[in-house]
Amino acid sequence: MELKKGLEDVAIKETSITFIDGELGRLYYRGYSVYDLASFSNFEEVAYLIWYGKLPTRKELEDFRKLMAEERKVPDHISSFVRQVSRNANPMDVLRTAVSMMGLEDSRDGDTIQKAIKITSKMPTIVAQIQRTRRGQDLVEPDPNLSHAENFLFMLHGEKPSSTDVRSMDVSLTLHVDHEMNASTFACLVVASTLSDIYSSVVAGISALKGPLHGGANSEALKQFLEIGSPDNVEKYVLSRLSSGQRLMGFGHRVYKTMDPRAKILREYAKQLSTEKGLGELFEIAQRVEEIGIKILGNRGIYPNVDFYSGLVFYALGFDPDVFPTIFASARVVGWTAHVDEYLKDNKLIRPKAIYVGDLGRRYVPIDER
Ligand code: SDX
Repeated sequence: MELKKGLEDVAIKETSITFIDGELGRLYYRGYSVYDLASFSNFEEVAYLIWYGKLPTRKELEDFRKLMAEERKVPDHISSFVRQVSRNANPMDVLRTAVSMMGLEDSRDGDTIQKAIKITSKMPTIVAQIQRTRRGQDLVEPDPNLSHAENFLFMLHGEKPSSTDVRSMDVSLTLHVDHEMNASTFACLVVASTLSDIYSSVVAGISALKGPLHGGANSEALKQFLEIGSPDNVEKYVLSRLSSGQRLMGFGHRVYKTMDPRAKILREYAKQLSTEKGLGELFEIAQRVEEIGIKILGNRGIYPNVDFYSGLVFYALGFDPDVFPTIFASARVVGWTAHVDEYLKDNKLIRPKAIYVGDLGRRYVPIDER
């Protein structure tokens, strides 16, 4: 039996949801290139595509949008929990617990995708409530007439967002929707494979995504840029970080051995937003980190990943760095639940093995003789 640390290069299922070409840096959702989806589509249409396997007709999309809008409101007792704890708690802990509370009320049985739509519709409301509570602001109720991305920013700022902000948010959410068998998706499948419930799977996904090696990297990457402070400090910072054995956050990937296509797309939105919002120097710092990081790490296949520029986009859109991973989760919940749904069609309990290397046959010694 071969030990495969981190399950590297181990396939645990077949999928028709997402394909990643790690060598060429290409990403496809249900066979469509993310470049096309980022240019021409939107979050609702892509969520429909991921869940149902096809792009919706106009009527299907209208009905789907209406369904999501009806599900956006969060029960009052969950909002009051969020109000109570969000000043000091880690936003991913608050989101994880709020989703868990949603699971308490929802009956255990029922169609995975129907429940997924409910959870996906409510997560931005919870995230916006976390962010506004951290700023001592009143909560803003969702507006059923706005799109998913538009409503997310409306609930965050309490006013209608600009079209550039909406487009940037829409594309960012679209690019975070799925990524095949990443750690958090795998965590969801482990839970689902025991025939537990979808809320428990999503809670497991949020828990895994929180880590700085995964979805937590977007805030770590932005904090790097803030810490560097000026483009002139970049080289010294990167060299000292790497020489002290620390990782460059937002760089590297288990599958991509070239630049993550999502980083390429997000870089353009980061550039536009930072120019508009007076964050031009922060963008310049990020670009210098990209350039120097690739010069040092590129020959080992270590390049910017989705988290490298996404933090700059979320920061420019008005979110605190600690809140960034909850935005990632609000999009990835579509992919998590789609993979659970796909896996349950041909379920097998996920139970790997471990190679035993300890002692055997040891004699029990009474405590006073130890
Ligand atoms: C996401 O899986 C997905 O698809 C995830 C994701 C998604 O959409 O779901 O794409 C989202 O999580 C992106 C990754 C975000 N994380 C970071 O930016 C954190 C920094 N990156 C790394 O820690 C690392 O690159 C990982 C964890 C992302 C991937 O690492 P692997 O494949 O497990 O490789 P490894 O940790 O074994 O590293 C191999 C070598 C090591 O050097 P040696 O010990 O062999 O000498 O590469 C080095 C590492 O030190 N290395 C880095 C590095 N990433 C890897 N060195 C410096 N900086 C880095 N960022």
